[in-house]
Amino acid sequence: MPAKDWETRLAAVIAGWEGGERAAVEKAASLDEIERVRVSFLGRKGTLALLLRELGELPLDDKRRLGPRAQELKRSIEEAAKLRMGELTETLDQEALKPLFNDPTLPGYPPPRGGLHPLTQTIEEIAGILLSLGFEWAEGPLIETERYNFEVLNIPEHHPSRDLMDTFYLEGSEGLVLRTHTSPVQGRELEKRPPPLRIFSPGRVFRRENVDATHSAVFHQIEGLCVDEGIGFSDLKGTLEVFLKALLGPETKLRFRPSYFPFTEPSAEVDVECFVCRGAGCGLCKRTGYIEMLGSGVVHPNVLKSCGVDPERWSGFAFGMGVERIAMLRWGVQDIRAFYENDLRVLGQFAG
Ligand code: DAH
Repeated sequence: MPAKDWETRLAAVIAGWEGGERAAVEKAASLDEIERVRVSFLGRKGTLALLLRELGELPLDDKRRLGPRAQELKRSIEEAAKLRMGELTETLDQEALKPLFNDPTLPGYPPPRGGLHPLTQTIEEIAGILLSLGFEWAEGPLIETERYNFEVLNIPEHHPSRDLMDTFYLEGSEGLVLRTHTSPVQGRELEKRPPPLRIFSPGRVFRRENVDATHSAVFHQIEGLCVDEGIGFSDLKGTLEVFLKALLGPETKLRFRPSYFPFTEPSAEVDVECFVCRGAGCGLCKRTGYIEMLGSGVVHPNVLKSCGVDPERWSGFAFGMGVERIAMLRWGVQDIRAFYENDLRVLGQFAG
């Protein structure tokens, strides 16, 4: 085939591209449109494809002169097609996704659900039991006077148990401390409302502790107090038995161990049979078969007297327990700090 003809045909193909088809590709509204143009040039019977196939038959000189022009055209067609295809698929993707976001019949994404903190859950469960036993919820201040934190509770100045409490004293405020236990609520309530009374008081307490897996400088206690006529140690035993069985299960076995607290006489610490080994001895109960649950006792007459309550007429029992301790035992939490770090991976396991 004469090179002249081939060159003329190439010029026509170029004119076709530049004279309209390039614009058609660049403004194509669909992938089909691009494909139509591409096929018309480069498909099996495409005008440019035919020319390229015939290029081999041209004399060498012409081949060298005309070949690059044909290749250049091929490249620009392919490039324009590719570019527009990219643009289109992007917008088409978004168009295709639009109905998904606009479909009002699709269910919404559920918002992540929160849950109660394990300590809150523990306090609420204990509170539920005590409320059902006729105890009322009472609260006291976190900043407490030495009078309520110690003196009313029969802990005079220089009494060694003040040292045991590792108290935070408030600088510059004579006589104020961060309460070391929830027991000061006893005195506040006794003064506020005359007996008979039954109260419990959950809340934060503070001690100068070095923080480790089982100690925290801030933790929680729940205090219980019952004062009425004719109340004795048997009432304490019966109440705590019902309470601990409700909390830990009906088969729970209790052990009352003689102890000492300045504000109760007699005093007892209450253990429950280990709920892991059932008394056989294991790691949780340190091979003793029992786990310490709370401190308790018959209210010391001095406490009643300090609050203006006649100990000849009224008597009562009191008990106090650590919330973290109970929560750790129930859920097998090994480190008290897990309750304060607010790591959602930890807290999420308690979401009810
Ligand atoms: N307040 C005591 C403490 O922090 C716990 C306690 C023991 C409270 C005996 C009481 C009780 O009411 O009767 O260790």
